[in-house]
Amino acid sequence: MGALRLLGSISIVALTCGGIHASTAIAQEGAAPAAILHPEKWPRPATQRLIDPAVEKRVDALLKQLSVEEKVGQVIQGDIGTITPEDLRKYPLGSILAGGNSGPNGDDRAPPKEWLDLADAFYRVSLEKRPGHTPIPVLFGIDAVHGHGNIGSATIFPHNIALGATHDPELLRRIGEVTAVEMAATGIDWTFAPALSVVRDDRWGRTYEGFSEDPEIVAAYSAAIVEGVQGKFGSKDFMAPGRIVASAKHFLADGGTDQGRDQGDARISEDELIRIHNAGYPPAIDAGVLTVMASFSSWQGIKHHGHKQLLTDVLKGQMGFNGFIVGDWNAHDQVPGCTKFNCPTSLIAGLDMYMAADSWKQLYENTLAQVKDGTIPMARLDDAVRRILRVKVLAGLFEKPAPKDRPGLPGLETLGSPEHRAVGREAVRKSLVLLKNDKGTLPLSPKARVLVAGDGADNIGKQSGGWTISWQGTGNRNDEFPGATSILGGIRDAVADAGGSVEFDVAGQYKTKPDVAIVVFGEEPYAEFQGDVETLEYQPDQKQDLALLKKLKDQGIPVVAVFLSGRPMWVNPELNASDAFVAAWLPGTEGGGVADVLFTDKAGKVQHDFAGKLSYSWPRTAAQTTVNRGDADYNPLFAYGYGLTYKDKSKVGTLPEESGVPAEARQNAGIYFRAGALRLPGRFL
Ligand code: GLC
Repeated sequence: MGALRLLGSISIVALTCGGIHASTAIAQEGAAPAAILHPEKWPRPATQRLIDPAVEKRVDALLKQLSVEEKVGQVIQGDIGTITPEDLRKYPLGSILAGGNSGPNGDDRAPPKEWLDLADAFYRVSLEKRPGHTPIPVLFGIDAVHGHGNIGSATIFPHNIALGATHDPELLRRIGEVTAVEMAATGIDWTFAPALSVVRDDRWGRTYEGFSEDPEIVAAYSAAIVEGVQGKFGSKDFMAPGRIVASAKHFLADGGTDQGRDQGDARISEDELIRIHNAGYPPAIDAGVLTVMASFSSWQGIKHHGHKQLLTDVLKGQMGFNGFIVGDWNAHDQVPGCTKFNCPTSLIAGLDMYMAADSWKQLYENTLAQVKDGTIPMARLDDAVRRILRVKVLAGLFEKPAPKDRPGLPGLETLGSPEHRAVGREAVRKSLVLLKNDKGTLPLSPKARVLVAGDGADNIGKQSGGWTISWQGTGNRNDEFPGATSILGGIRDAVADAGGSVEFDVAGQYKTKPDVAIVVFGEEPYAEFQGDVETLEYQPDQKQDLALLKKLKDQGIPVVAVFLSGRPMWVNPELNASDAFVAAWLPGTEGGGVADVLFTDKAGKVQHDFAGKLSYSWPRTAAQTTVNRGDADYNPLFAYGYGLTYKDKSKVGTLPEESGVPAEARQNAGIYFRAGALRLPGRFL
């Protein structure tokens, strides 16, 4: 489904090969003229990564064989929702992707075997020996942003906001390894992860895709997850079977936009760009990350997909990135003067591959014509193709046959294997943050009579969030996650053999008064701009979950709240109505990890204490959307690094229940602004 684009305000920028000169900014209120960057201020790597003389020799030879048509094909990627393996015979594209709602044969709920069959089919066509065709293996990319989340039987990990709370880079490495193995098993060689977003305004619909508000954690995790996915650069493990290509994204300052607007404008200084938002990229580059994805967003009013100084002078020049830059989903169409079918500006600015989801055919024709007529310098095209070929050679693709014939290919049984799920469950345990436990309600005895309530208790889709089977993570049934465990399921298992009992009712009705109630509630799944909100108030319109908490508390039942969210939120009323309150984030398929921490063993011994510490500051009011560690007037409700354990004395007390935002602002956005352009949901196919 195409996007409805109503341009709200526009800025006219004259892009030249030599740099960026904001000529006229019309109506884009607040957009300062683009600061001229100082590339020398940016970090410089100790060594040039990814440059190997033998590899370059192979690339030189390949480049010489390619026709101009084949070169243009390499810089264009199409979505499997619009391209077939047979299309590659006419349009020699270098890459394909499965966007959030795409799946084999149009089915985003297809089983693993169909993913493998499709990947194999595309690969075989790309390797065919045909007159006038140079066999160049096609690179298939997908968003495995919390495990191979497109497939319900895979190990789906907690989202990055939860992983940030673990403060455990080595765990991230292992998560990267598991994700890579499960993806390799389905024949897919590239993941559009990790996101290295440093999220500064929690109204952003992609807050949960970031590890933290602070560069410290993002920098600490970056190399670990890249090496987990790709293998350690320079070792025999690098891109060995079971390893795949990673993509550091979204360059740059995707988490720094004004008001947290997705794809909006980061109106910040160059110093802040370097100090805060660039933190994850040098470690990723040094770890040998093979691709970087450019951001939809802008810096000081200039779209990254047309920002030559950032893409070429800074990222490739000063910071020494020698892989290739892939665009975001038709994001080149947001560059002034471009459409998704026609955008020489982006390639000239330094983009190396267009993510031309449904626009690849016309873009191919137009780009080919622009290379032939000199609009696009052949040297720039050759550099882009060189980078793409370099990555494919380094990824070993030229030695790898079609997926189904690959020696050492992990079997499909690795998806959701017990060993993999154990890593997921460990991540859940380590990510939970105990915000309140004033009366020592936790830990619970498994011998207790437990009531479980709330619409998140038995809902694996809700506990997994966006980017899960479907783009938005909505419409998912529990039976579409074979092998997964809901939070309720984990509680039942914990209590089962200890002599306790569990009653479950979403609305909190019970036959026998329980000793304790565990209420699992929180945000409905969302992704990208569909998760943008105006304030951080939870359920600003109708506080149905608060009513449930109060009802149980008024019946004299101790209440444990388990809150599912993709961001810190203002939940003071809900905190007041709970005896204990756990930030569980978006735990993914291994919901059993929650019970592992909430309950002792039947002898009353704590098996797993709380370990999670906030990687995002928790707001004091619903208006405190940009409270970040290091602020001069830093005054959150719970600070970065906060997280109680069973040994701590909790003293949260009764909190004020005035949200801090005027009534008229107390509603979710509902419409999605992007740099002044109103774009209705349904952007994907
Ligand atoms: C989306 C996202 C990006 C993702 C890409 C492919 O728009 O911005 O993170 O990798 O499209 O699905």
